[in-house]
Amino acid sequence: MKFKARTAFAALLLSVPAVAFADADDDKLVINGDLEIVTKAPAPAHLSDSLDEIMSGWHFRSDETQALEMDDFDNPGMIFVDQAIEAWNTVEGAAGKSCASCHEGPENMAGVRAVYPKWNETAGEVRTLEMQVNDCRTSRMEADAWKYTGGDMASMVALVTLQSRGMPVNVAIDGPAQATWEQGKELYYTRTGQLDLSCASCHEQNYGNMIRADHLSQGQINGFPAYRLKNSKLNSVHARFKGCVRDTRAETFKPGGPEFTALELYVASRGNGLSVEGPSVRN
Ligand code: HEC
Ligand code: HEC
Repeated sequence: MKFKARTAFAALLLSVPAVAFADADDDKLVINGDLEIVTKAPAPAHLSDSLDEIMSGWHFRSDETQALEMDDFDNPGMIFVDQAIEAWNTVEGAAGKSCASCHEGPENMAGVRAVYPKWNETAGEVRTLEMQVNDCRTSRMEADAWKYTGGDMASMVALVTLQSRGMPVNVAIDGPAQATWEQGKELYYTRTGQLDLSCASCHEQNYGNMIRADHLSQGQINGFPAYRLKNSKLNSVHARFKGCVRDTRAETFKPGGPEFTALELYVASRGNGLSVEGPSVRN
């Protein structure tokens, strides 16, 4: 069984010599001709044993896909941002409030994405942006929660994220968040599924290699939510995690649950120093 699994993985990974080991390219990501995005940075201290440099997934995409992110008119994710602006201003729920009633314009969310997932003192838990948005919906608006990986949520998270575009990712991993971060790290390195793979097997040990027809990146989340050409919609972090876990043929965790929240904090921290880039475009 184990032997079979390893053979299957070997077949997945086309080991390629120098030329086709298409390492990250040296292109520069500048959005709308003026917003410079940091897509490569020295690895944060906690990664010093495993990586020298961290890189956005943008570097691993084709020139055509990359170009879609360089102008907001070409970025299909922006349509969903427009939808979220409507939702932001729409009164919903028994309290008779919209997001705007309390937060005024979305620009007041500048800096928020860069530090999420984040410890919430009152709740005594690490919260993702999605959890925070749903908390505002249920407890402050008295409206229904949105589906964690649904379209309304992904669009709203994209609108909030956009306000921080270009700012450095800087999630806290110490203090009250540390235990959750440790849990996420553990999950990142645990091999699971029939293929006996961890996140690190692909995104730390094999980034730059081709897997099937895909160019493996470091699996960073600074670009989320990500508009994927494959499914023509915005994809949330946990939806992506779920897809990757499924690819190892393992049982997946629940989007919005404690395991993926911990994993998100850990993966976000692997990108500390890259710019917030979402909504990004990927294949
Ligand atoms: C009745 C007022 C109210 C409404 C309506 C409301 N919020 Fe909030 N929101 C708050 C308060 C108060 C906080 C700070 C809460 C805390 O830290 O626990 C907050 C925090 C947040 C944060 C985290 C900010 C940070 O700095 O960490 C986000 C994101 C957010 N709200 C988004 C939304 C969105 C999106 C909506 C509409 C779907 C919304 N809120 C509706 C009152 C509101
Ligand atoms: C079998 C290899 C494999 C494993 C194991 C794997 N992934 Fe992936 N992952 C991929 C491929 C292929 C892609 C698409 C190309 C790319 O961006 O790397 C991808 C994409 C991603 C992306 C999107 C990156 C971007 O910039 O859009 C994230 C985030 C990610 N993976 C996280 C994870 C996490 C977290 C785990 C562990 C739970 C994991 N992956 C396990 C193969 C894998």
